Amino acid sequence: MSGRIESRWVDAETVGLSEEQLLIYRSQRLGSDLRITNYGGGNTSAKVRMADPLTGERVEVLWVKGSGGDIASAGLDGYATLYLDKVLALERRYRGREHEDEIPGLYPHCTFNLNPRAASIDTPLHAFVPFRHVDHMHPDAVIAIATAADGEAVTREVWGGRVGWIGWQRPGFDLGLKIRAALRANPQLEGCVLQNHGLIHWADSSKACYERALALVNAAIAWLERKPAHLFGGPKVSARTHEERRAFVAALAPELRGRLSRQQRKVGHLDDSREVLDFVSSQWCERLAAIGTSCPDHFLRTKIWPLRVELDATTTPQQLVARLDPLLDGYVAKYRAYWEACRKPDSPALRDPFPVVLMLPGIGMVSYAKDKAFARQASEFWVNAIHVMDGAERFGGYRGLPDAEAFSIEYWLLEEAKLKRLPPERPLSRRIALITGGAGGIGKASARRLLQEGAVALLADVDAAALDAAVAELAKEFGRDAVRAVVADVRDEASVNAAVERVLVEYGGLDLAVLCAGLASAAPVEETTLELWRKNLDVLATGYFLFGREAFRVMKRQGLGGSIVVIASKNALAASPNASAYCTAKAAELHLARCLALEGAAHGIRVNTVNPDAVLRGSKIWQGSWRTERAAAYGVGEQELEELYRKRSLLQQNVYPEDVAEAVAWFAGEKSAKSTGNLLNVDAGNKEAFPR
Ligand SMILES: NC(=O)c1ccc[n+]([C@@H]2O[C@H](COP(=O)([O-])OP(=O)(O)OC[C@H]3O[C@@H](n4cnc5c(N)ncnc54)[C@H](O)[C@@H]3O)[C@@H](O)[C@H]2O)c1
Ligand SMILES: [Zn+2]
Repeated sequence: MSGRIESRWVDAETVGLSEEQLLIYRSQRLGSDLRITNYGGGNTSAKVRMADPLTGERVEVLWVKGSGGDIASAGLDGYATLYLDKVLALERRYRGREHEDEIPGLYPHCTFNLNPRAASIDTPLHAFVPFRHVDHMHPDAVIAIATAADGEAVTREVWGGRVGWIGWQRPGFDLGLKIRAALRANPQLEGCVLQNHGLIHWADSSKACYERALALVNAAIAWLERKPAHLFGGPKVSARTHEERRAFVAALAPELRGRLSRQQRKVGHLDDSREVLDFVSSQWCERLAAIGTSCPDHFLRTKIWPLRVELDATTTPQQLVARLDPLLDGYVAKYRAYWEACRKPDSPALRDPFPVVLMLPGIGMVSYAKDKAFARQASEFWVNAIHVMDGAERFGGYRGLPDAEAFSIEYWLLEEAKLKRLPPERPLSRRIALITGGAGGIGKASARRLLQEGAVALLADVDAAALDAAVAELAKEFGRDAVRAVVADVRDEASVNAAVERVLVEYGGLDLAVLCAGLASAAPVEETTLELWRKNLDVLATGYFLFGREAFRVMKRQGLGGSIVVIASKNALAASPNASAYCTAKAAELHLARCLALEGAAHGIRVNTVNPDAVLRGSKIWQGSWRTERAAAYGVGEQELEELYRKRSLLQQNVYPEDVAEAVAWFAGEKSAKSTGNLLNVDAGNKEAFPR
């Protein structure tokens, strides 16, 4: 159990706040503590007297968290505003539980002040409680009681009759009426436990409502803490070391992701924190995982059950790979049978039947979903479920919902309608990219472009400081889930392999590799030392080979095809004076791309080359001696160089990193599905480099 939750309400911070601002203040404090509610879970409301924009009269407005979003981060625009009297009047239109799904279609007619935010299906829980402030939360400690065999009796014991008990019922209009009835029967109630679901409570001020949330949840925590801990029956398999766990997951990921992505590609997430490891490695994990997760909010994101895999302390990833097909087939068959058994004539079609969450004893919990945030949240939901199971197993024992009820939530037509309203996915969503030289000019621009198209990206670079800055910049733009970094030296085989292992641990697979780490050097051939020659060949030719080979291996094992983009140079095609080592290495990269294209075609792995020329802006190459040397070679000042290249080009244009990134994105995506072994010059036109 998690210890007492301390108040984070500071009176001085709330001076002068309006009722609705106080609602936001309270909601942020409730939502940012995962012990009080899970991500996206629960909702809060306030009933506020406001001037009607139409009549100027003061009316009661229900501010209630809108559909979707998360109370920790939602602002006022995340809340629906409804005329309270109109919502209450819906009772006259309500035709009984069989028809309650028609009510949400009427909420837009209750909208106050043209607010476009859609009201959630939990709106009646708030409307029918005659207190000014209402919170509906999913606290682990309360759900432990709500899911335990003798939860109702324990509710009386813990809160001494101040908290009611409402038997399991899907959220909606009728649940709102039930809560009102409980309150009418016992006006002293401070809240109700909703069986297999969560808590609802109320008060007449925002602060009192917040304090009540803490008091009720803390009472549950304190009660549970007095029960003996059970450690889920103790370990069945001992946890492997951090390095062993990561190596295991990386070795498993390509084959696992390939199979889980049969219908749609997925992005992975690993949680091997102590509490997760203890649970998945425990004696009771098998029994508890089979009961399924703990809160209706989870079902859409995690599916009702995880796939728990039988592993002992010595099972190798290869041994598990050999068992993957029957394991996944078994899960899919079970999930399909659940859908068949529970569906109604109008139920939505079977969704992707593969597991979202996998529990690997001794290793951790791996989840795969449509993007990194969904995969992470699925695993966070399971962490909530582990807390709930921990609590419920201290007394009475954990009980899940009957399959038919879980199904009615997972395949709820109202949820299906929400899924259908989601914006279309971007061209590279569900794709995992690795970019070498990702901290450099062209590498970072390419990463940004792939991220804009919806991919997630791991940047690899030898320059740790530049890498930190690049990742911070991109994470700010695209969110912390979308980008990761690894320090790697492309010349070193072990370092390259570790970087690819990293992308497999962080994102669970690999679809796109952009080989871009590089440098440039200039010297007449007689002055080209062996050291300089080797430096160019090591970073460029060998570096591209090492990363290309490792990416190729992973893509082939995944069986989902892939796209490798080689950033070579105009100099791969056209020789430049006084740069023999660089030009030769660039030609080697181009030819390497063709060789990989040949071998990759049978596996759907496409390999194409982009040839930039004279990208001065943003490039670190052009900040060093290369710039001086080039300026000297053409007999111009360094400041004139950009102009010189512009004039030299056929199109009379400068080339920028974003221009190169555009070509990278095209080769990365499906629009170039029919191209491999190809090349695209991004050089503003240079007849020496015309391909032939
Ligand atoms: N800028 C141009 O005019 C131009 C023209 C043609 C080709 N290119 C090629 O484009 C690629 C990117 O160049 P850029 O202009 O972005 O340069 P850049 O210097 O801005 O970026 C290159 C990145 O590669 C990294 N790197 C260098 N050695 C490495 C190593 N051993 N291991 C890992 N990372 C290493 C650097 O730290 C840097 O962040 C290079 O291959 C370059 O040859 C550039
Ligand atoms: Zn809920």
